[in-house]
Amino acid sequence: MKNVFPPLLVLGVLLFALYQTRYKKPETTEEKVNPAYLEHTKKHTASHIQEELDRLHTDAYVKNYIVNVIKHGSNQFNFKGGEMEGGFVSSKDAPKVACHVLSLSGKKCEEPYPEDAAMFYTSVCGGCHGDDGKGLGGTYPDLTRKTLLGIEKREEFLKSLLYR
Ligand code: HEC
Repeated sequence: MKNVFPPLLVLGVLLFALYQTRYKKPETTEEKVNPAYLEHTKKHTASHIQEELDRLHTDAYVKNYIVNVIKHGSNQFNFKGGEMEGGFVSSKDAPKVACHVLSLSGKKCEEPYPEDAAMFYTSVCGGCHGDDGKGLGGTYPDLTRKTLLGIEKREEFLKSLLYR
């Protein structure tokens, strides 16, 4: 009798493990999802991709993109000038400098921003992008082009996800 138990025990453990892996239904994740999120997905008619595409050319979206480039730099195009490092101005000053960049092509920030943004831009960014933002004859990106290159690239990417 003594020797029978261990093999039985081992068999029992094995059967239990088999049951767990093969026959037990995986737990549903549904109840773990935040109810507010479920509500949100129900109301959704357009996808998040379409929503972003719709916002892509608004001044607010473009401003946000410029702020991100100022903060984190950019290394996605092939300009003679090479890549751009992040942090030329502080995170605090980035939004107002971005507003000045928008103003170079007649766009606007909703909120007023201090006049010293122009001075920041000229002294920190102008050396590469030019005081007029046009990029010194193609050596650097033209910040006044109708659609910035990064926005164009994002648009292509989002569309590729939608129309696969
Ligand atoms: C040392 C030169 C240099 C300075 C200074 C500089 N940039 Fe740039 N900037 C570049 C280069 C080069 C690129 C393109 C990099 C790449 O390949 O992604 C770029 C890209 C950008 C882009 C993306 C353009 C697009 O069409 O998507 C923006 C916006 C931008 N810079 C804004 C600024 C602002 C605002 C400042 C000042 C805070 C600034 N840059 C300072 C060299 C510079």
